[in-house]
Amino acid sequence: MENNFLLKELEKHKKLLSVTLLLNSSLEPSYIYKKTIEAITEIVNAEVGSLLLYDEEKDELYFHVALGEKGEIIKKIRLKIGEGIAGSVAKTRKSLIVNDVKKDPRFFSKADEQSGFVTKSILCSPLIYRDKLLGVIQAINKKDDENFSNEDLNLFESFANIVSIALENAKLYNKLKETFFQTSFALAEAVEKRDPYTGGHVRRVTEYCLAIAEELGLNKEEKENLELSAILHDIGKIGIDDAILRKPAPLNEEEIETMKKHPQIGLEILKKVKHLSEIVVGTFSHHEKYDGTGYPLGLKGDEIPIIGRIIAVCDTFDAMTSNRPYRKGLDDNVAIEELKKYAGIQFDPLIVDAFIKAFQRGKIISQSKREKIYEN
Ligand SMILES: [Fe+2]
Repeated sequence: MENNFLLKELEKHKKLLSVTLLLNSSLEPSYIYKKTIEAITEIVNAEVGSLLLYDEEKDELYFHVALGEKGEIIKKIRLKIGEGIAGSVAKTRKSLIVNDVKKDPRFFSKADEQSGFVTKSILCSPLIYRDKLLGVIQAINKKDDENFSNEDLNLFESFANIVSIALENAKLYNKLKETFFQTSFALAEAVEKRDPYTGGHVRRVTEYCLAIAEELGLNKEEKENLELSAILHDIGKIGIDDAILRKPAPLNEEEIETMKKHPQIGLEILKKVKHLSEIVVGTFSHHEKYDGTGYPLGLKGDEIPIIGRIIAVCDTFDAMTSNRPYRKGLDDNVAIEELKKYAGIQFDPLIVDAFIKAFQRGKIISQSKREKIYEN
């Protein structure tokens, strides 16, 4: 008897430990949501698990659901704090077992009516981190027609604690990352503001790069590195003299040589930030050319980091299609023809292909197109 009890306890702890490891293996909220919902059913042997997140502004709970036929319906359901079993749990911040929902006046039947699901029993726990309500988790319908027990409740509460910590960690990490991206963007814009003719260049180049990343199927980390490189690609222009940077006419040869120093200046600035090594290779190589005639190193083909090859195409397209005081920007289609013409010479043909696909899908909106949209 005692052995049986110990074995059961051990089994429970093993389950919790494996879930803890799983949830802590990612800082991606969507991954944590998905794994939480999957783990709920396993932890307390339930038919379905659901996760409701707290919307602080509206003081409501809303379902987090994976996309599916019923997902769209459930997604629209919102519960006021205090409404339904989940809302009550959020309000009292105390877990609840309801083994026959029909007999409980708090049961919110709308979700069942709209989704066609039949709820019989619910085990619900709040997600709380340092006194802050994050949401609630629900295990619905104990399998084999059994009732949820106090033992289930204890286990579920421990699980809720693990989920809360994982969610809060992910939230903090993403907030920090967002702040870093916004700071980088502010810095890039500050540099851009010195040149009154290139307004919006950084934003457009970054958008174009992300459109290419989508076409190429880059993963999340590659996309983030590309985005940050695109934001910071011309940061080295901070070291270029105003007389050159703001010159309202084409540059002479000497000025061009000075201007060519900006990738090196950018490298000097960014290399001081320890975790930016992936980004630096991209910004440093955005003026390399596919045939090896670019600068600063004269790299050729695949020797040029892919981030550099992507920025090169986007940077050039934006420069061609944007108006300058001494010339009008090219028509989009003419600029696309230019990219095609120089594919394999100046640009990586695969990147040009991806750019054209993104353009045809309407993902590339040039400066002049934006102005037309704005006028209308
Ligand atoms: Fe540049």
